[in-house]
Amino acid sequence: MDRAPPRGEVPLNAAAPPIVERLAQLAAFGATPHGIDRRLFSPADAQARAQFAAWARAAGFDVTQDRAGNVFARRAGRRDGAAIVSGSHLDTVPSGGPYDGAYGAVAALCALEALAAAGIVTEHPLEAVAWAGEEGSRFPLGCLGSGAFAGLNALATIDALCDEDGTSFAQARDSASGLLPGVPVRDGFPAPAGYVELHIEQGPVLEHRGVRLGVVTAIAGQARYEVEVSGEAGHAGTVPMALRRDALTAAAELVLALEAAAREIGDVVLTVGRLVVFPNQTNVIPGRVSFRIDARSVDEARLADLRGAIVACGERVAAQRGVAVETALLEERRVVAMDPRLRAAVAGAAAELGEAAIDMPSGAGHDAMCVAAVAPAAMLFVPSAGGRSHVGDEFTEPADLELGVRALTRSIVAIDALLTKEPT
Ligand code: GLV
Ligand code: MN
Ligand code: MN
Repeated sequence: MDRAPPRGEVPLNAAAPPIVERLAQLAAFGATPHGIDRRLFSPADAQARAQFAAWARAAGFDVTQDRAGNVFARRAGRRDGAAIVSGSHLDTVPSGGPYDGAYGAVAALCALEALAAAGIVTEHPLEAVAWAGEEGSRFPLGCLGSGAFAGLNALATIDALCDEDGTSFAQARDSASGLLPGVPVRDGFPAPAGYVELHIEQGPVLEHRGVRLGVVTAIAGQARYEVEVSGEAGHAGTVPMALRRDALTAAAELVLALEAAAREIGDVVLTVGRLVVFPNQTNVIPGRVSFRIDARSVDEARLADLRGAIVACGERVAAQRGVAVETALLEERRVVAMDPRLRAAVAGAAAELGEAAIDMPSGAGHDAMCVAAVAPAAMLFVPSAGGRSHVGDEFTEPADLELGVRALTRSIVAIDALLTKEPT
C-alpha cells in the first residue's frame, strides 16, 4: 500500500537494485586497456545513455531527454510540477574509471526503484538524470548538459562548440550516437524543486578519516585557460642555443612558474594536463606550444590571486624568453555553496543509517554546481580507494557504493519532506 513516509521510520530495508552489477555493465561501454573512454555522443556514450533509459523504462518510469542530451527518468509524486532531481553524468575522461559520474546517475535510478519497491510515494515527482558531457573531454567546456539545463550556457552557444575534429555539438547530437532514438525530447529546461547528487569523493579525505560518507559544503571555483606560446621554429642542428626562441622550453619554464605560484598562494590547485607542441618533430625547434591550465580553489580570494599570477607569469616568461604568450580564459566558475537546509537533510539521512558523515568541500567539479543556480542543491560523497579518480583503476568498495545508494534514497525522502513543509 502506498503511504507517505514518516520521518525516522522509512521502510527502506529491502534489497536495493544492484548498483555494483549495473556499474560493471556500464563499464563495458567504452572499455580500453587504460580505462573507460566514453566521450559525449560517442557510440559508447550512446550505449550508456540507452542502458540508463532501458533500466528506467523497465522500472516503469517515464523516460525523456532534452536538446542538451540529458536523459531523465521520472516517477510521479502526489503532486505534479517541479521534481526533486538526482543524478550525475555518464561521460568519462579519455581514460576514466567506472564510478566517476556513472555512480550518481545509476544510484539515483536505484533510489527511485527502492522507493517504488517500498511503496513510498513522495509529494514531489522524482527524477533520476544522466547529465550530458560533464567532463568537457570532447567539447571544450565542462558541465554542458547541466549548464544548459540551468541556463548558464545558452543552447545556441553549446550547439556551436566544436571538438578537435571540427564536429559541432549540434552535429554530434544529431548523429547516430546523439539523442536516443524513440525517447521523447522534452521542451525547455524546467527548474527542479531541489537537487541532490551522489558521487565518489575522487580524493583521499574520507578514507584518511575512516568515514564512509561526506556531506559537501561547497564546490571549488574553477578557471580554465588556453595558453599559446609562440617562438620561432628552426633547424635543431644549426641554430645556436643563444639565438633560439624555443616555444617548448619557454612553455616548460612557464608551467614550472605556475606550479610555484600555486604553491606559494596555498589552498589552490593548478594543473597543466594538456600540452600540444608544433610541429612536434625530433629535429625541429618547437615554434609554437599550446597548453591548458585548470586552476581551482574553494577560496575565491586565493583563486583571484592565482588568476593574477597566471597572467603575470606569462608576461614575465614572454619578456625573458623573447616569445609571445597569449592567455585566453576558456571557462570560469565561482565557488558554489551547497544549500544548508538540504545539507542538513542529507546529514540526517546518514544519521538514520547510523553512519558518521563529515562535512567537506569538493575540489572536483560536479553537475551540482550548475544545478545550484536554479534549485537548492546538496551532494553526498562515498570514499575513493587511495583517493584515485580520473584513472582506469578508480575503485570504491561495493559496500560503500551500496551504502551511498541507501543514504541517497533517504536523502531524497528527507528533501521531499523538507521542501513540502518549507518550499523555497
Ligand atoms: C570533473 O571531473 C572535474 O572536476 O574536472
Ligand atoms: Mn564526476
Ligand atoms: Mn570527472
